Amino acid sequence: MKPVKVGICGLGTVGGGTFNVLTTNAQNIARRAGREINVAQIAARHTNPACDTTGVAITDDVFAVATNPDIDIVVELIGGYDVAKQLVLTAIEHGKHVVTANKALIAVHGAEIFAAAEAKGVSVMYEAAVAGGIPIIKAMREGLAANRINWLAGIINGTGNFILTEMRDKGRTFSDVLQEAQELGYAEADPTFDVEGIDAAHKLTILASIAYGIPLQFERCYTEGISTITREDVEYAEELGYRIKHLGVSNQTERGIDLRVHPTLIPENRPIAKVDGVLNAVMVNGNAVGDTLYVGAGAGAGPTASAVVADIVDLARTLEAGSGAQVNHLAYNVIDPVDVLPIEEIETAYYLRIQVQDKTGVLAAVASILSERGINIEAIIQKEPQEEESLAQIIILTHRIIEKTMNEAIGAIENLDSTVGHVTRIRAEYLD
Ligand code: HSE
Repeated sequence: MKPVKVGICGLGTVGGGTFNVLTTNAQNIARRAGREINVAQIAARHTNPACDTTGVAITDDVFAVATNPDIDIVVELIGGYDVAKQLVLTAIEHGKHVVTANKALIAVHGAEIFAAAEAKGVSVMYEAAVAGGIPIIKAMREGLAANRINWLAGIINGTGNFILTEMRDKGRTFSDVLQEAQELGYAEADPTFDVEGIDAAHKLTILASIAYGIPLQFERCYTEGISTITREDVEYAEELGYRIKHLGVSNQTERGIDLRVHPTLIPENRPIAKVDGVLNAVMVNGNAVGDTLYVGAGAGAGPTASAVVADIVDLARTLEAGSGAQVNHLAYNVIDPVDVLPIEEIETAYYLRIQVQDKTGVLAAVASILSERGINIEAIIQKEPQEEESLAQIIILTHRIIEKTMNEAIGAIENLDSTVGHVTRIRAEYLD
């Protein structure tokens, strides 16, 4: 069979990794695909010292790759929205299949891109967009096709997990660990995407769409970052038997579908609570299969390239069969136009940390505010002031309650004379 010709756009961490995996594992990959896969052209503004590109045509114009009549598959690894979107649409217009690792592009412009691809009879593959090296898209779109997905939850940003782990285990500062994550090629070009949960929200948006067959709704995903997590919250959570992780969570309930990224307390005996460093993990619960858990490296050259190349192999195997041989872009043939619930409507448990003046009756006042609103307390810790004139801390873990009820309770607690400053609230999930 004729070799498949691939054009790689972008030769940074992921582009370089993809080139190296395709060349280093060429023989093994050809045995799997049933034909050779050749890198016919690369578009890059800079060379990558980790790649020996001798003999490969190199241009600095990504559109030269997208329009090159010799190329079968365009691999978009430049990131960002505008140029990447034009590149992908141009490649589709020229009848190319596309592989991308660009979660922002898929989460925000996926509907338009998939419609263009379907009209042209080509496929856009995006395994590397979510959870790096974990084949979660394949698992959910194909492996779990028998199931109604009830919920999913994941640590889906490697940089954030790396930061939280290093802070907890080694007492390192936030900025110090972030800098290392950037040096290791884990972080986004704009690292606020990682620490403020935007990157995870892109990925969760994609996962929820393929889980339930709903439209991509990035703009409705609630997002809260990890930059406000303090060491004392990490310690108190551990005292209660929980770990704090930056989690993407989505449930399909009778009340609707939620979509949220926020720091989350997880019982320490859940396997996902022990997933540390740059590792990602996704739990998916299906009504036939029950709980499933997928763990692996969530960022970095090799793991992300592993996912990109798997998509190239999939396309190469079915190139002549056309896009009908590939699974639907969003897993379902029919997309259900269900809206995501606003955050006030979600139901979850809560960790509250309240700073108070050490006076008689404060704890009773807080407890009565909660009980008046039907909020059950699961556990409570009171920390006496460490020094004279310092404040006492009340740490409360609640049972599940609707967020708007919790908002009212927090407002009432903050209005108490003895409360100082804002109440710290971290959502908690049992994942059972
Ligand atoms: N910045 C991302 C992360 C890269 O840290 O998870 C992989 O998507």
